Amino acid sequence: MNKTSKLITVFIIFLAICGNIQAQNKGFESRIDSVLKLMTLEEKVGQMNQYNGFWEVTGPAPKDGNAKMKYEHLKKGLVGSMLNVKGTAEVRKLQELVMKETRLKIPLIFGFDVIHGYKTISPIPLAESASWDLEAIEKSARIAAIEAAAVGINWTFAPMVDISRDARWGRVMEGAGEDTYLGSKIGIARVKGFQGNDLSSNNTIAACAKHFAAYGFIEAGRDYNTVDIGTYTLHNVVFPPFKAIIESGVRTVMNSFNVLNGVPATANKFLQREILKDKWKFDGFIISDWSSGAEMINHGFAANLKEVAETSANGGSDMDMESLAYVSHLKEAVENGKVDIKLVDDAVKRILRVKFELGLFDDPYKYCDEKREKELIRHPDHIAGVLDMAKKSIVLLKNDKQLLPLKKTQDKIAIIGALAEDKDHPLGSWVIGADKGTAVSVLEGFKKYNNNFKFAKGANSTFEQDEKGFAEAVALAKKSEIVVMVLGEGADQSGEARSRTTLDLPGSQQKLLEAVYAVNKNIVLVLMNGRPLAITWADKNIPCILESWHLGTESGNAIAQVLFGDYNPSGKLTMTFPRNVGQVPIYYNYFNTGRGDYQPHRYWSHYIDESNAPLYPFGYGLSYTQFEYSNLQIDASNQSAVKVQVTVKNIGKLAGEEVTQLYIRDKFASFVRPVKELKGFKKFALAPNESKVIDFVLTEAELGFYTDKGDFIVEAGEFEVMVGTDSQKLLKGGFVRK
Ligand code: GLC
Repeated sequence: MNKTSKLITVFIIFLAICGNIQAQNKGFESRIDSVLKLMTLEEKVGQMNQYNGFWEVTGPAPKDGNAKMKYEHLKKGLVGSMLNVKGTAEVRKLQELVMKETRLKIPLIFGFDVIHGYKTISPIPLAESASWDLEAIEKSARIAAIEAAAVGINWTFAPMVDISRDARWGRVMEGAGEDTYLGSKIGIARVKGFQGNDLSSNNTIAACAKHFAAYGFIEAGRDYNTVDIGTYTLHNVVFPPFKAIIESGVRTVMNSFNVLNGVPATANKFLQREILKDKWKFDGFIISDWSSGAEMINHGFAANLKEVAETSANGGSDMDMESLAYVSHLKEAVENGKVDIKLVDDAVKRILRVKFELGLFDDPYKYCDEKREKELIRHPDHIAGVLDMAKKSIVLLKNDKQLLPLKKTQDKIAIIGALAEDKDHPLGSWVIGADKGTAVSVLEGFKKYNNNFKFAKGANSTFEQDEKGFAEAVALAKKSEIVVMVLGEGADQSGEARSRTTLDLPGSQQKLLEAVYAVNKNIVLVLMNGRPLAITWADKNIPCILESWHLGTESGNAIAQVLFGDYNPSGKLTMTFPRNVGQVPIYYNYFNTGRGDYQPHRYWSHYIDESNAPLYPFGYGLSYTQFEYSNLQIDASNQSAVKVQVTVKNIGKLAGEEVTQLYIRDKFASFVRPVKELKGFKKFALAPNESKVIDFVLTEAELGFYTDKGDFIVEAGEFEVMVGTDSQKLLKGGFVRK
């Protein structure tokens, strides 16, 4: 090692030592500046470059990318981060390469899509959101972070906080549904779970607010499609969950594939500089989505990779995922004056800041402990945690004839549907770290309660029409007392790049359901799916319907616990279920329009072939017991803290949990306001006959809204207040704000 390298090594060690002194006050700025001063322009550009650890995992490999080139770039300090690297051994190998070969020994940060667990898989995020249990959701993210950190990962590309009202879009499985208020609270809980209270600990990881912004509003529900929404919707529906989690300390943001106001998000100054970095004072860093930079050529926004580098850097995108734009052209762009070096320095400081906060400068191998990996992966506490999350995510949609809960002594049960025996599909989409076949199947969970059943596949969940298994299934149903049918979507029918044009049960499952129904009416339908489905026929004919989503590792056990009543279902839908895909986008907090209410002539906003009403509304979910609401009280004497109170009583025979929801309507305002908006919720348990008085407070934060220019205002006027068990069954009151 020559004299200069020795000096630099000493200097880096010095930084690490003084870092420990500063660690207490977390003030890394002087250390960041000291490192920045040492860096050449090429090394700065290197920090802004992220490569994939292996190909074709979550996006198309770039045509110029290859392993040999990557290793060369890693050795030259031209890579700041890797994604999709699996396991501590692999992570250590790459980190050692950088620490040994590069001049400045700036540690890599390792990112991964830990969306709902790493090895121990939680329910898909849309399912978790249906629990309305912020504590359980935070714990689920904590488990994911512990397992991810144990395998060398220090950064997850989650939570996705894209609001969407379109179930055709496969990625609704990855979010928290259609509501901004709930989506914000859930986003905060997930970030807290991932990042914990101390990012420098070796079991916390940096989180990532994605995708900024408006990806959930793609036209026709078709993934990667155009987005064209007004700034009023942007400020009131799309931005708030991002703003909420940035204020709660999320350390990275991912931009998105789509354009906004005609400019791709990756080069969008309004989004990344004006809003994120200037207005919201975000001091972490922004990463592009997979090759979203290079795709600006396809958008017709950049003519070549050189222009991609210029427009992305000027637009505020700090790190380039798999476009090879920065590593190929950013140095030259700065040298030619197309990009100000100040912007590069700002981007690099943001990246270094997060690396310092993670403690990577103090110990680049702190996440590489093979012993911890063995001891923590699939830890019994994690299995118990995801089981708890799974059962709380299940939504009871219908329970006529009181078929549920099933009796443990019940015999002559038929279980029908390929998904019932499946050990992969229940894990859901976005499970890159999971091992195949690790979900507890419905059959396995069921057996723990009741072995008196026979199974027939009947039909699988693919899109093909295949009735070969019908005869066996129908014959079994004919001689059974109760039929449990497990139907729905495979994990590969929702998620990224998996939009659908219908919301029916895929393939021949609907036909199978009707064939079985023709011989046995006592059907319990267990749905496994990654999006709302238009199961209108089932709702009309099938007596019992349980929404079980894709519940992850403990699917079968959670479903069995609910089917046999060991857990009384408490979930509530966070995304509206349509009657018909033609109603989409359909959501509860809509504007009334000038002709929204029924009128005695045909000139009002309606369909001539379908009702406007949803199949199941936002916030809907039943219990094995019943809850009664009474005595709604509103006290607006203190205008900055309007008190709302309601009494909830369990009038059934079983203990259960309820999610009481509070909605408001700003009746007349300077901008139209939704017919109702969720502004509070509480989940609590009640024993049979027990009552509780539930209190809420409405402050300006809940009563106000954003103008189309993004200014938050609170206006005087008449407010309706609604409280109840879902967004339709509500007690109503009101007050006047002076
Ligand atoms: C994907 C997704 C993004 C993910 C990234 C890395 O295309 O859009 O959500 O984090 O690439 O896998």
